[in-house]
Amino acid sequence: MKLAKLQLAYFSPCGGTLRAAELLCSQFESLPVERVNMTCPPGALPAVIPVAKDELLVLAFPVYGGVPPRVEGLFGQLRGQGGPCVLLAAYGNRAYENALAVAAAQMARQGFVCVGGLACVTPHVFAPALGAGRPDGGGDRRAFEAFAGAVKRALAQPALCPAALPGEAEPERKPLKPVPRVRDTEKCLDCGLCARACPAGAMDRDYRVDGARCVNCMACRRACPVGAWRFDPSAVRAWLEENFAAPRPVEWFAGEGMSG
Ligand SMILES: Cc1cc2nc3c(=O)[nH]c(=O)nc-3n(C[C@H](O)[C@H](O)[C@H](O)COP(=O)(O)O)c2cc1C
Repeated sequence: MKLAKLQLAYFSPCGGTLRAAELLCSQFESLPVERVNMTCPPGALPAVIPVAKDELLVLAFPVYGGVPPRVEGLFGQLRGQGGPCVLLAAYGNRAYENALAVAAAQMARQGFVCVGGLACVTPHVFAPALGAGRPDGGGDRRAFEAFAGAVKRALAQPALCPAALPGEAEPERKPLKPVPRVRDTEKCLDCGLCARACPAGAMDRDYRVDGARCVNCMACRRACPVGAWRFDPSAVRAWLEENFAAPRPVEWFAGEGMSG
């Protein structure tokens, strides 16, 4: 099939996922890219975002606890019409577990054929030494190129074929450990930007956080102009650095049985 353009839909509270997604899009040189930033508060996007059959949806998200972020309604606006989609799961060098399979199942329900999925390492927001400088210009870039080549070959087939992706589409729900945080009330300007930035709608006007909705994405910290939110990931950082320091390669899957 001949593609008209790429639609890059992404959730990237700290920017690592977006950087990786841009690298992937750049492998489809000649095609225009339309970007949809889905890192936004509930209700900020149109209820339906259609993606035409001759467009390739690039869906990019970070891995949280082995799955895509469990933000209510995340990516629910995207509607395919039997057209292709590729997934990019950005993770912090621990593991991506079921992330690709969960996202592929959601996209299939919403009318897309997931022809490929790629999992790549980006800096871990709780332990930035893990994944520092990645994706890099060496092996990572070559893996992205190989993946894009395989996706192009899959798109050239007479019919779109869903890629076989690792993991379970409906894994058991694991509770996310909350990361201790405080709001420095001396510094806080009471501007409300943090609460308005929360993509999970977890913070009220009085800066109280609903623990059942919050996914620890730290968009609140990023939105604060004076650094009033302080997270303390030291315990999880120590565990990550001790157990997951060995760099993991990019892994990808496309079409019928192609992988790298
Ligand atoms: C709440 C939370 C859970 C995470 N869980 C995982 C995980 O299960 N495996 C992993 O390797 N990285 C994990 N990470 C690291 C992120 O996947 C990684 O830092 C990603 O680049 C963040 O994307 P962003 O920079 O676009 O916000 C987690 C990060 C957060 C904030």
